[in-house]
Amino acid sequence: MDLHGFLKALARRWPTVVVCLVLAVGAALAVTSLSTPVYEARTQLFVATRTGEDTTQLNQGQSFSQARVQSYAAIVTTRQVTQPVVKELRLRTTPEELASRITAVAPLNTVLIDITVRDAKPARAARIANAVAEQFSAAVERLESPSHASGSERSRSRHTDDGVSPVSLGVTQEAVAPAGPVSPRPLLNLAAGALSGLLLGAGIVALRETLDTTLKTSEALGEFTALPGLGTIPFDKNAPRQPLVSAEGHSKRAEAFRKLRTNLQFSQVDDRPRIIVVTSSVPGEGKTDTAVNLALSLAEAGVSTCLVDGDLRRPCVAPAFGLVQDAGLTTVLIGQASIKDVMQKVGGQLSVLASGAVPPNPTELLASARMEEVLRELADTYEVVILDTAPLLPVADTVGLASLAQGALLVVRASKTSRDQVRAAAESLDCVGVRVLGTVFSMAPAPKGGRYGTYGQYGELPAPRASASLQKEAVTPAGTRRAGVK
Ligand SMILES: Nc1ncnc2c1ncn2[C@@H]1O[C@H](COP(=O)(O)OP(=O)(O)OP(=O)(O)O)[C@@H](O)[C@H]1O
Ligand SMILES: [Mg+2]
Repeated sequence: MDLHGFLKALARRWPTVVVCLVLAVGAALAVTSLSTPVYEARTQLFVATRTGEDTTQLNQGQSFSQARVQSYAAIVTTRQVTQPVVKELRLRTTPEELASRITAVAPLNTVLIDITVRDAKPARAARIANAVAEQFSAAVERLESPSHASGSERSRSRHTDDGVSPVSLGVTQEAVAPAGPVSPRPLLNLAAGALSGLLLGAGIVALRETLDTTLKTSEALGEFTALPGLGTIPFDKNAPRQPLVSAEGHSKRAEAFRKLRTNLQFSQVDDRPRIIVVTSSVPGEGKTDTAVNLALSLAEAGVSTCLVDGDLRRPCVAPAFGLVQDAGLTTVLIGQASIKDVMQKVGGQLSVLASGAVPPNPTELLASARMEEVLRELADTYEVVILDTAPLLPVADTVGLASLAQGALLVVRASKTSRDQVRAAAESLDCVGVRVLGTVFSMAPAPKGGRYGTYGQYGELPAPRASASLQKEAVTPAGTRRAGVK
């Protein structure tokens, strides 16, 4: 998936990104509001040496302090300091726990020690910091006094001879109660939440896109099948209630069927396939919708058309027109009636052969010699015979029927049919040697953009008017084209 494809996927799957963003920001807000605030109080100590007044002694004192100040910093979190603080302030904690909330740092080349104390209460943090500073100073002075120092230490370290510690610690900055907590940080948490939400959303989109093998655009379908894309039927929420579309209608769906008819008429001008099956790989892809409206559209353009319900499992053609379903194709196939007896007229140019009673053996019936005869008879009577069929992959009915037809339209449902299913369907048509005239991309996201004058979608052909005779001539498909799926 390239960057362009990824951005398109993001635009298409934006709700996923929004949901992740909202969840992550919500989690960040929850964490922020549920976490206990932590306040930090700071104090600073200055390590001074009790030395003489001359410059040499002062320099020696300075070096002495700098050399030991790192060691002093390490003493801050020892029990010597924390235990008296816990006792003095009557803290409900242990010296070890208190030590874990204290940080002491001695910046390099200085004689300063910064002590930081974290606590849930700002005033208490300051009190503890000041108490720690006081106990720490006392501990250092105690350790450095000659009586505490070891013999060797005493011999090396500088100390006064009067038993007083050679160092003294002074507070340069007393701790005060901090105005605000150091954590949680609402803005930081919010930004981190938003960023992780966006990344998570983008990751999910990329993953779904990688795992999703359905075809999203008619271009992708054309690239995948290497078949002509004869039409793209937009998704229309009214389609289940209004299955029939008038060719004169102005809806996008009506325009799409006009375009399908025109493309079909002009795509095969040298070799006219008169018997065309409309099929697809799996159920519910829009075969019946396409067959019915294509037949209607051809008839409205003046082409004498016969629509046959060749789906003997789930026949839906007769109900779409409000016609009788019980007498039709199967009645003729078993010899109970002639074609003329059961053919139902819909307007001047369209005749419908319903399915008839649903038989127990549709596969044999549809591939029978009698079926071939019926189709030949129909092709002699009508200019075009359109057959609605069952899906190719779950049942074998359509493969047999397609072998008797002169061309097939492969319906592929947008964002639903997988590449594997399309490939398998195209291969099964190829196996029986039926010419795949092209694909119909159904239930595609409705194209954006308005109309351009009376020309419908910009670039599409205008609705037919009195051009029926021209179109009648043009129903002359030619050139054998097999499904060449990449
Ligand atoms: N362009 C469309 N927009 C929205 N819904 C549609 C569209 N075309 C068809 N449908 C709906 O999709 C469902 C399946 O359509 P249809 O019956 O034409 O598919 P099918 O391939 O013939 O299914 P089956 O394999 O069961 O015969 C129906 O409810 C139909 O109303
Ligand atoms: Mg159907």
